[in-house]
Amino acid sequence: MNDLFKKSNEILPRAKKVTPVAAQTYSKSYRYFCEGNSPLFLDRGQGCNVWDVDGNKFIDFICALGAVTVGYNDARVNEAVIKQLEKGISFSQPVEASIELAEKLIEVIPCAEMVRLVKNGSDATSAAVRLSRAYTGRDLIAISGYHGMQDWYIGTTVNNRGVPKQVAELGKTFEYNNMDSLKALFVEYPNQIAAVILEPIQADGPKEGYLEELKNLTHSNGAILIFDEVVSGFRYALGGAQELYGVTPDLAAIGKGMGNGLPISAVVGRKDLLEQIETRNVFISTTFGGEALSIVGVLETIKILEQAGTYEHIWKLGNIMLDGIRTLIKKFGLDSIISVSGLAPHGGVAFEGVGSLNYLDIQSVYQQRMTENGILTLGINNINLSHTEKEIDRFLEGAEQAMYDIKKAISQDSLEGILKGGKVNPVFKRNIK
Ligand SMILES: Cc1ncc(COP(=O)(O)O)c(C=O)c1O
Repeated sequence: MNDLFKKSNEILPRAKKVTPVAAQTYSKSYRYFCEGNSPLFLDRGQGCNVWDVDGNKFIDFICALGAVTVGYNDARVNEAVIKQLEKGISFSQPVEASIELAEKLIEVIPCAEMVRLVKNGSDATSAAVRLSRAYTGRDLIAISGYHGMQDWYIGTTVNNRGVPKQVAELGKTFEYNNMDSLKALFVEYPNQIAAVILEPIQADGPKEGYLEELKNLTHSNGAILIFDEVVSGFRYALGGAQELYGVTPDLAAIGKGMGNGLPISAVVGRKDLLEQIETRNVFISTTFGGEALSIVGVLETIKILEQAGTYEHIWKLGNIMLDGIRTLIKKFGLDSIISVSGLAPHGGVAFEGVGSLNYLDIQSVYQQRMTENGILTLGINNINLSHTEKEIDRFLEGAEQAMYDIKKAISQDSLEGILKGGKVNPVFKRNIK
């Protein structure tokens, strides 16, 4: 146990007793970090920095799993939220700001003609799926990527316990960037697929023309195209992947980055699809959908993100980071062990095992050294507006030392004398069957 993390290590057994995985979100659990030698509970944030419960400061490249786009504790967002807090949080009728936000989302997101606010990414993707099923009168959904915790999606993964088989069977997965794999689904299930839902940016992004062709194929088979932009919205561009690649879906789910950490999401898209909520009793409604603190916070967040240079900044820093990592991989001859994954705003490293070391051994060595260098990372990083080149330099210094450690572990074929705490041990894995 590292004394630097005394308080984190004291809280952990308490947390394990009362909360599965000792966290409310799998990916924020102690299991994603080197137990005993990492911060496990955070206390506060400012810009791109966070402080753990022991008072240790870290540059955060996780950014609340992509939710923080402007920076922690931003004075402008805070001011908007505090002003609203003094008036009230949730009311018996909508606040005007909810309409202002819907108008704003319609202005900045290409597919948005109408908006329904909800709370989680899972709410938004599930709403989009229900709207599509209602509109087409079909039941099957073609799926690529991660889309949250609801039955229609999670039933198609290895994490499907508790989902009725009949529900799970309605989801049919296809491979990203492989048109034939989606074509095969339309051939196998003619006139049965209600919607194609995908994360439009996965791994290194869409192949040239992929999203256009996917849209044509979807429409020519009478299905609805849904972009799950819970990660890509407000991260790669204000209007998400649909703005970046110029391909407009019928519906989109947004969440995470829109509120700089506030709990809010939305399903947006074609009017004739969204209108069904009113005209055809397609039920999408939550008590807190119009909660006002998040709404005013999103309006302020968008105002900041809209300023000139935001996305140039995020892409530039991300590219410096990814280029730097590539150079280091080459320098240490680690091409077969570490690969660069993702695009600049949401990119980083992925690991392979070698000899008797598996990929989690390698990742543990990496994360341990990054933590020692004051860097909080899970492998894939989220750049926010408050990161600067200084933080990217710090990241790359840490990565260089981490690769040195990895090289050493590989050459001795063990973690002996290198890993001081526990290993990372993720609870759940994405996109595996
Ligand atoms: C692409 C994508 N869609 C949907 C979700 C689900 O969002 P939430 O966890 O807010 O329900 C996530 C969450 O990580 C996501 O990454």
